[in-house]
Amino acid sequence: MAMAAATRARVAHLLRQLQRAACQCPTHSHTYSQAPGFAPSGKTTDYAFEMAVSNIRYGAGVTKEVGMDLQNMGAKNVCLMTDKNLSQLPPVQMVMDSLVKNGISFKVYDNVRVEPTDRSFMEAIEFVKRGAFDAFVAVGGGSTMDTCKAANLYASSPHSDFLDYVNAPIGKGKPVSVPLKPLIAVPTTSGTGSETTGVAIFDYEHLKVKTGIASRAIKPTLGLIDPLHTLHMPDRVVANSGFDVLCHALESYTALPYHMRSPCPSNPITRPAYQGSNPISDIWAVHALRIVAKYLKRAVRNPDDLEARSNMHLASAFAGIGFGNAGVHLCHGMSYPISGLVKTYKAKDYNVDHPLVPHGLSVVLTSPAVFTFTAQMSPERHLETAEILGADTRTARIPDAGPILADTLRKFLFDLDVDDGLAAIGYSKADIPALVKGTLPQVMLLIKEPHLEWMAIFSHFKLTWLRFQLELVLHRMW
Ligand SMILES: NC(=O)c1ccc[n+]([C@@H]2O[C@H](COP(=O)([O-])OP(=O)(O)OC[C@H]3O[C@@H](n4cnc5c(N)ncnc54)[C@H](O)[C@@H]3O)[C@@H](O)[C@H]2O)c1
Ligand SMILES: [Zn+2]
Repeated sequence: MAMAAATRARVAHLLRQLQRAACQCPTHSHTYSQAPGFAPSGKTTDYAFEMAVSNIRYGAGVTKEVGMDLQNMGAKNVCLMTDKNLSQLPPVQMVMDSLVKNGISFKVYDNVRVEPTDRSFMEAIEFVKRGAFDAFVAVGGGSTMDTCKAANLYASSPHSDFLDYVNAPIGKGKPVSVPLKPLIAVPTTSGTGSETTGVAIFDYEHLKVKTGIASRAIKPTLGLIDPLHTLHMPDRVVANSGFDVLCHALESYTALPYHMRSPCPSNPITRPAYQGSNPISDIWAVHALRIVAKYLKRAVRNPDDLEARSNMHLASAFAGIGFGNAGVHLCHGMSYPISGLVKTYKAKDYNVDHPLVPHGLSVVLTSPAVFTFTAQMSPERHLETAEILGADTRTARIPDAGPILADTLRKFLFDLDVDDGLAAIGYSKADIPALVKGTLPQVMLLIKEPHLEWMAIFSHFKLTWLRFQLELVLHRMW
């Protein structure tokens, strides 16, 4: 009892300090109590949102059509991009067979890095610049699809500096106005939804943070979603990529609403890809979440369960449509230092020669703590998602929405044998300052600069995200 009282007093003291330290001016003060549908007064917030998504074709075995698609596009010199592990597996072979059958001339680039970096992006860009390709096929998970998007972009804009299109504040965040070559994405994981989005993520090695390029212009021309590829995934790749779907859905559904994001763009080209939660993204997020609740455990546990794996493959695209236009928030924000500062952790089932915290694992580990805090912004949505994930919310009280969703997530992760907290992936309490440091500058910069895309998502967390750091400790993640 005495311990609990002491902890409460310590938290209360810190929160008071944070409150005093926080800027309360109208530009920086974006905390809100969610009243869905009502924008704050004033003319600075957006009034519109735009949905952008790649064309998508779904079907078991649909990969065999890729050669015909390239022929229909008139492609003569194609770049097939993948990673070293996948280059030995059936999905890549199926694509090559279709290209050969349809007389498409192509070169393979299989040097994609799993969890790409600025350096690995640049290597791919150099390869593509030399090849003068007129179309691209990316066969793989998010790492491959993102690398291919970046290579297509910079080869189409050969005089640009690498940081020109990278999100501010790390890059210049310039809008893309050059035309790109057609890119067909063939996802082989069920997680990132990258086949639907104009997003390409990489580790910026120099700063040890993840950042990316976000522009509707780089989204694939076509996503060929073939569930047969999912049958080759090892169970941890299914689980971790499935957690990515879970967090994309939860975060985009609980993100700041688009009409509370500022500034309102003066030209539609500057309206960000990540606009905040909106009625269309909401539909995809909730639908994806229902599929995760029904099928993820089955998909992980039984490699032959085509129904479960097919549904997860679709859910990945559904959540991609949602978050690709709404954005994500704190689980993804916190995941950057967790994956960027990795020491020696080797992820089971990932056939790579470098330490790696898989993206989906790095986002989901903090999710119980994150949603405990974000619940105060939109408790109804947090309760609704807890119910979708299996919680009995019939007698739940609104103030308990955060803990209820957190407990539901903990049980869900426990059932799927998720590594227990940050200690299991190689961090100790001594790393807390570095993890906080890795998150702080990024989030603070984003909060301060109202023209940044991510600002929309982070702005209302300017107080609560710091509370989240406390939560890391309080939830005894070690
Ligand atoms: N662009 C976006 O919208 C977006 C969204 C979320 C995450 N990401 C990024 O995507 C990356 C993670 O991508 P990912 O989770 O899809 O995995 P991945 O591409 O990193 O691949 C993970 C591992 O699984 C293997 N693999 C992939 N498909 C397989 C299959 N069918 N059979 C057997 N092995 C297979 C790969 O060879 C690799 O070893 C991260 O860099 C992350 O930041 C991008
Ligand atoms: Zn993600």
